[in-house]
Amino acid sequence: MAGRLQGKVAIITGAGAGIGEAIAHKFAREGAKVVLAGLPDDPVEDVARAIRENGGEAEACPGDVADEQAARRCVEKAVERFGKLDVLVNNAGVFIEVAECQDYSVEAFDQTIRNNIRSTFLMTKFALPHLQKTRGVVLSAGSESGEMGEGNNAPYGGTKGFIHAFMKGVAFEQGQYGVRANCVCPGPIDTAWTHKETGPMDAQMEKMTVAGTVLGRRGTPEEMANIYAFLASDEASYVTGALWYADGGTTIAKGGPGQQVPGTLAEQPQPTLPLEHSHDGLKNKHTENRLH
Ligand SMILES: NC(=O)c1ccc[n+]([C@@H]2O[C@H](COP(=O)([O-])OP(=O)(O)OC[C@H]3O[C@@H](n4cnc5c(N)ncnc54)[C@H](O)[C@@H]3O)[C@@H](O)[C@H]2O)c1
Repeated sequence: MAGRLQGKVAIITGAGAGIGEAIAHKFAREGAKVVLAGLPDDPVEDVARAIRENGGEAEACPGDVADEQAARRCVEKAVERFGKLDVLVNNAGVFIEVAECQDYSVEAFDQTIRNNIRSTFLMTKFALPHLQKTRGVVLSAGSESGEMGEGNNAPYGGTKGFIHAFMKGVAFEQGQYGVRANCVCPGPIDTAWTHKETGPMDAQMEKMTVAGTVLGRRGTPEEMANIYAFLASDEASYVTGALWYADGGTTIAKGGPGQQVPGTLAEQPQPTLPLEHSHDGLKNKHTENRLH
């Protein structure tokens, strides 16, 4: 049976770790040819190889997509290698410092703006001429924090609010070319970011983040990849300008209802994708917790 993305060509940014790795595997399993962008020391080659070993078609494209030339090159590489572009997934992003605003470093602010906002703008800008030819799709990583804000990393939530509005603007103007644009807005996902051992959150923030969901657990990268696959597919042909919340109920929670969920119900589903880098996303980053 043909996959729901059969014959489509997709670029996925930040595809070496976390949710991006899962999107890459999911898209490949659904029949897409994938180009995997990531920072030069991200394991994008590794993910591409794993996909090829599983019978898929994947090309790694190491480079900083917040850099104009690298972003342009990534889009050109996809079109040269696979002949067209149907889907751009702006998944790359960073969560590098936790601090109250008065203590938040200017360096972390600049990095957050650059990697979350500039990367999304540049990739979208360079991909659109090709997406207009295929009636393609742009999907970007929003977040519940783009609506609710992110205490102790307020600049991060701000970048996600930008991405929400940016995707709506792109959806509005690109509809005339048959191009759709949407955001996937996760809550806490089981990647490096939401564990105190692998990211800047401390024990208290980690606990509150998970307890703030209605479902009482983190979402998995694969659960997010399933949504990206649907929105990228022709099955979502009438969905544009949407903020697709997949936040375990964070935006409707009033307190800590997740704490009431019995352990068996709060178990994550068994993974089916061969993910090896779920918690690797911050390995090559300098992260810091400035909470006192
Ligand atoms: N993990 C969560 O709880 C969560 C919640 C809401 C939204 N999101 C969004 O989902 C996306 C992925 O998050 P994740 O948890 O999988 O993160 P992750 O750190 O595991 O993966 C992100 C990848 O993007 C790469 N990247 C960052 N800047 C880049 C750039 N300029 N060029 C190329 N690659 C770059 C990183 O190096 C990393 O490999 C992010 O946009 C994030 O904001 C995550």
